[in-house]
Amino acid sequence: MSGERSGAAGPSRRGVLRLAGGAGLAAVLAPSLAGCFKPGSDGINAGTLESTAKLPQPFTIPLPIPKPLAPGSTDAQGVHYAMTLQEGEAEILPGYKTKIFGYNGTFPGPYLDVRAGTPLVVHQTNQLPVPIATHLHGGLTPPSDDGFPTDLVYPKSLADMADPAKAAAMPGMGGMPSTHDPLAKTSAVERDYVFPLKQRAATLWYHDHRMDFSGAQIWKGLFGLCVVRDDEDDKLPLPKGEREIPLLISDRAFDGDGQLLYPVDDPTLLGKPGMKPSIQAGAQGDVILVNGAPWPFLEVAAVKYRLRLVNASNARRYELKLDAPGGGEFVQVGSDGGLLAAPVTHSTLRISPAERFDVVVDFAKYPVGTTVTLKNTAGDGGAAQVMQFKVTRRAADDSSVPAKLSTIEKLVVDGEKRRLVFALNGNAWNVNGEAFDPAKPLLKAQFGKVEQWTVTSIERHPVHLHGAHFQVVKRASGSGDYDEGWKDTVELAPGAEITLAVRFDSYRGRYVAHCHNLEHEDMGMMAAFQVV
Ligand code: C2O
Ligand code: CU
Ligand code: CU
Repeated sequence: MSGERSGAAGPSRRGVLRLAGGAGLAAVLAPSLAGCFKPGSDGINAGTLESTAKLPQPFTIPLPIPKPLAPGSTDAQGVHYAMTLQEGEAEILPGYKTKIFGYNGTFPGPYLDVRAGTPLVVHQTNQLPVPIATHLHGGLTPPSDDGFPTDLVYPKSLADMADPAKAAAMPGMGGMPSTHDPLAKTSAVERDYVFPLKQRAATLWYHDHRMDFSGAQIWKGLFGLCVVRDDEDDKLPLPKGEREIPLLISDRAFDGDGQLLYPVDDPTLLGKPGMKPSIQAGAQGDVILVNGAPWPFLEVAAVKYRLRLVNASNARRYELKLDAPGGGEFVQVGSDGGLLAAPVTHSTLRISPAERFDVVVDFAKYPVGTTVTLKNTAGDGGAAQVMQFKVTRRAADDSSVPAKLSTIEKLVVDGEKRRLVFALNGNAWNVNGEAFDPAKPLLKAQFGKVEQWTVTSIERHPVHLHGAHFQVVKRASGSGDYDEGWKDTVELAPGAEITLAVRFDSYRGRYVAHCHNLEHEDMGMMAAFQVV
């Protein structure tokens, strides 16, 4: 035993989770490993898994518009929702039944449409064969309910694992890291998650956060949309109702039977974690799904629409462009943390995993009959296109985008200055030279102070902090065009350095900061920190 991880009972996680072979990325990207895998072109980015299922013609399937999940009761504690996590079958590709993991058995999970200031209480029952932890991404949530990666909800078959005394006596549970984390708060089969939502209106999403297995479990379907609303946002004259459309974008690949490809060492997801080389730099698929449908289309009137874009992909980043005669533009009104102070116009929208962009697109400039294709200039093959809007009719439009949307306090650093290095260390994905150890906080952030966190890397990583939204103060290189407003995830381009200002003033306790390339995260590019 190497002893490099506190109390690890099995083989060290670093040994298990490192990239294939001794040669790091060179081995990962070697064409000999290909099979149905196309290596990344720049030697750093993920390759793409290639589908062998029969794929539909793009833009032939209508965009599913999610309907809000109906709440149960409302009481002094908040508004209650119930979700059962279960295996299911989804017809993602026409003619195939794909096995999924789903909140309420659906892919993606149900849409939560909620109000800021009203606590959201989600009762989850885990009927999956694996442990889970649920995180509300973008939520300001106390640590106990934030989906810390070892705060697992065990399924019935492993219910004893939730009892520390019994768990200690269960050998060979190397894939169950809560046993190595004395602070883990585990549950058997069910629990409530309470999200206070003391925060601004914003586009959030929720997803699995199980240590070492988030990538696999989210790929199988454990993700969903959550829109938080408030009076400030409601009062704006932005497009509303049917003209407000969420677009939850993700990529997947399917085998000849229509099943999801995600090559791991142990497909039961119960033993030792470990991914095949083809996805160790990040799992990307060649099928782009929006709200769970492949390359869908949406019929629109020639008016303004508010599109809430969420990149729910494991590792794929997009550069979105509207392709139509006369071009097209996105007027950004909100970011991860809600409304911007003022709109920002983009001809291209760069969106890395877990980021959200709330934009208005005006279809009035297009004649009826125009098709407007949402393309991804950062992708090739199937990943080069996302969806299509078909302008089918004229209609009245009294919506507008005001020049002033909201007020954003400018954070001024008055606390600690820290540096975080996200790096491929030898052949493991690390933060400050260490693989994730839930029991070992990287730093203690001071509650209520504005800290300066400078994040660097030589590779590309979408960096995400739990516990607070932040502001991008400066970038030493690369474009800052997409950094406006309150953020919780930011793309670090290769060789970039980003300085963030962040004030943890919601809750004290332990949180995580991590790369939101889920395969990097699962292989160790995550750090626990303490707000004190
Ligand atoms: Cu979207 Cu730590 O998560
Ligand atoms: Cu998060
Ligand atoms: Cu990364």
